[in-house]
Amino acid sequence: MDTAKLILNGEEYEFPVVVGTEDEVGIDMTTLRSRTGAISLDPAYGNTGSCLSTITFVDGEKGILRYRGYRIEQVAESATFVEVCFLLIYGHLPTQQELETFHNDLTCHSLIHESLKNFFDGFPPPAHPMMVMSAMVASLSAFYTGTGDADEGDLNIIRLLAKAKTLAAFSYKKSIGQPFIYPQNDLSYTQNLLHMMFAVPAEPYEVSPVLDRALNLLLILHADHEQNCSTSTVRMVGSSQANLFAVVSAGISALWGPLHGGANQKVIEMLELIRDDGGNFEKYVDLAKDKSSPFRLMGFGHRVYKNFDPRATILKESADEVLAELGMDDPLLEIARRLEEVALEDSFFVERKLYPNVDFYSGIIYRAMGIPTGMFTVMFALGRLPGWIAQWKEMMEDPHVRISRPRQIYMGETERSFVPLELREAEGRERPEPVGV
Ligand code: CMC
Repeated sequence: MDTAKLILNGEEYEFPVVVGTEDEVGIDMTTLRSRTGAISLDPAYGNTGSCLSTITFVDGEKGILRYRGYRIEQVAESATFVEVCFLLIYGHLPTQQELETFHNDLTCHSLIHESLKNFFDGFPPPAHPMMVMSAMVASLSAFYTGTGDADEGDLNIIRLLAKAKTLAAFSYKKSIGQPFIYPQNDLSYTQNLLHMMFAVPAEPYEVSPVLDRALNLLLILHADHEQNCSTSTVRMVGSSQANLFAVVSAGISALWGPLHGGANQKVIEMLELIRDDGGNFEKYVDLAKDKSSPFRLMGFGHRVYKNFDPRATILKESADEVLAELGMDDPLLEIARRLEEVALEDSFFVERKLYPNVDFYSGIIYRAMGIPTGMFTVMFALGRLPGWIAQWKEMMEDPHVRISRPRQIYMGETERSFVPLELREAEGRERPEPVGV
């Protein structure tokens, strides 16, 4: 099977077929328009491959996720987040020497320019930390304007990875009105993040190994997920050759939405709503099935996973462990479990293959760690950062990459004559209704 045939207006055309290393099949339509005059129409890109990639493999039917060929279950059990960053961005597991150098680089670049700190004062206290994150990451490009050469590209990758955690922690401190806590060179990436978020001046703060392990796990599970909404945004914006900081800022904005990374915040808000309503799961499952209601079970469903989301399976187990290790009991965990049980037995969810996704249990763990709900999506962004960077790097290194520029099928008015305002008024014409599609 190496070509696909298309018959259009009685003419037959052949298109090459591309088969991936996991036997995924794509029909290469790059010459479709130039040869046939037609375009492929695929709103929301459910059937469209936008690139060839060697980073992440997802088989949604079988519930498989692999980073650079390594199963997520193994990676989550044995790796640190910094190792996963290296793996995703540079394509192989680091040697001890490579890991040390990478870790040192990330440590050395953790500080942000002192004048960047002043930017935080411009945001009103209730500003959502995702908004602050997006703006602050874009602002890094004011400090590292750059020459655009490869060495500087590599340095900017380190700068972004190192400084993003500082920006995230500072945006949290700002939101609760506490002074910023600076990074410490003797701490690991994840320990530093916890230290900058939870330490207060003049008081000793010891990073809990339980929190450190939980944070590593959460960041690893979010690290890449092939061509999702925010990653596609990163590739789209990056294809115009905008700088890395602007590109990732766009990715953060895309992630913020409640159907994407913002779902982790919405899940907790939904569980709290159910708790406050007396724990009536059935009512909310019914509401989610009611087509006249916009309510959805947040943390359920996925465009790609039609079996189970392996990340959710890991997090469900880990939620139990983390809560037990911290000696905590969160009633929301029980509500989440019961809701999952009820939904998974309901034919609406069964027929549509809707299962808990990565966001369903992550919020329970973040809560147990003391991370406030408004910060959940920022934590997702920190986890997804190496994925965005790896995907951007892969694209920029592709000599054949072109600016992303989808087409459309126009459904508006055909040509008509413009009538100047005076004439329209004189003729007493009413403003026409806009044409909707
Ligand atoms: N609750 C109730 N019904 C749902 C849900 C849900 N969470 N998700 C999908 N459906 C129904 C939907 O109404 C539709 O029904 P019908 O065929 O009768 O019209 C069917 O399932 C297919 O849904 P869809 O919206 O066409 O599926 P999609 O692939 O376009 O959307 C999704 C995927 C994740 C946006 C969607 O499942 C959803 O809104 N889930 C809740 C938000 C959420 O948890 N997002 C986090 C995703 S995982 C983290 C990440 O990577 O972003």
